[in-house]
Amino acid sequence: MTVRILAIETSCDETAAAVVEDGRAILSNVVSSQVAVHAPYGGVVPELASRHHLENIVPVIEQAMAGAQATFADLDAVGVTQGPGLVGALLVGVQAAKGIAFVHDKPLIPVHHIAGHIQAPFLAHGEIPLPALALVVSGGHTHLYEVPGEGRYLLLGRTRDDAAGEAFDKVAKLLGLGYPGGPVIDRLARGANDRAHEFTVARIKDGSGDYSFSGLKTAVLYHVRREGIGPVADPASVPDGIRDLVASFQRAVVTALLRRFRAVAETRRPASLLLTGGVAANSLLRAEAKTMADELGLPLFVPPIALSTDNAAMIGAAAFVGWRLGRRAGWDLNADTHLPLA
Ligand code: KG4
Ligand code: ZN
Repeated sequence: MTVRILAIETSCDETAAAVVEDGRAILSNVVSSQVAVHAPYGGVVPELASRHHLENIVPVIEQAMAGAQATFADLDAVGVTQGPGLVGALLVGVQAAKGIAFVHDKPLIPVHHIAGHIQAPFLAHGEIPLPALALVVSGGHTHLYEVPGEGRYLLLGRTRDDAAGEAFDKVAKLLGLGYPGGPVIDRLARGANDRAHEFTVARIKDGSGDYSFSGLKTAVLYHVRREGIGPVADPASVPDGIRDLVASFQRAVVTALLRRFRAVAETRRPASLLLTGGVAANSLLRAEAKTMADELGLPLFVPPIALSTDNAAMIGAAAFVGWRLGRRAGWDLNADTHLPLA
């Protein structure tokens, strides 16, 4: 039997809906980005995010249904991101999912946003040997999880302060490079001298898989102040000095991310490695992670960029896991901004 799930994601600044079959086949995957709305502010403005989700949610769902050539009657379940995320943003998706599931008498499956990111590589690659070790790097998360079995997630490390994506966004904002910072820095760093500056990232020496990125961001800030570097006048023509600076910053982030990932992989000895979340779109991180995986003799699974950044297909994949495990929400389902991933 085929299980067809409509999945909805509104935890941050993308309004997204997808129809996914058996957690694998993507029948449609619609993402309406609010990047242009938040760009002038250099970050996501929660109130604006909620308002735009409200405007976009119905057309995005209609487009996903039309793209899948499905009617609500054809669905087996509705999956939705319950948390973590921005409360006003999450609520829009949760209410929409509840409405559709209630009216059409379909089961409602609550999904953890990070479970969605972790399931994204499964969407793209099918069978992945378990246990897997997953590095989830996004604007809100820098987490290392072990996936011992389907739908089971064991937290092995996390950032103690900023998420890696947040560090990219803050450094880009500091230099006037635009929002979101990750893709801009990735592009500017290509061909630049990433050895121009030696930025170091704090090493947490307690044997945990924990990360810390706020010191790196501060180091860049001090450097910028010391050298009197102002925000760039024209983001379309960035001086080489700033390209070298962001390239050096990017190299420091990637080195720190992979140092911990490697150390934990060496002690846990997983059967595979997963790299996922918005920052997994980073070209240097993708390349260096592949080198690391080859050195460790482990297969590495990285979703294509459209499935690395926030999307609803990954929520559909995680909802299918929830379906198989019998997870169902009642009509009292509420958004949970600090939902734990169990
Ligand atoms: O997963 P995502 O779309 O949303 C969250 O759940 O946060 O991740 C967004 C983050 C942003 O911080 C963005 O700057 C970062 O991912 N990002 C990148 C790249 N593309 C997106 N960071 C580094 N390099 C990239 N190419
Ligand atoms: Zn995300």
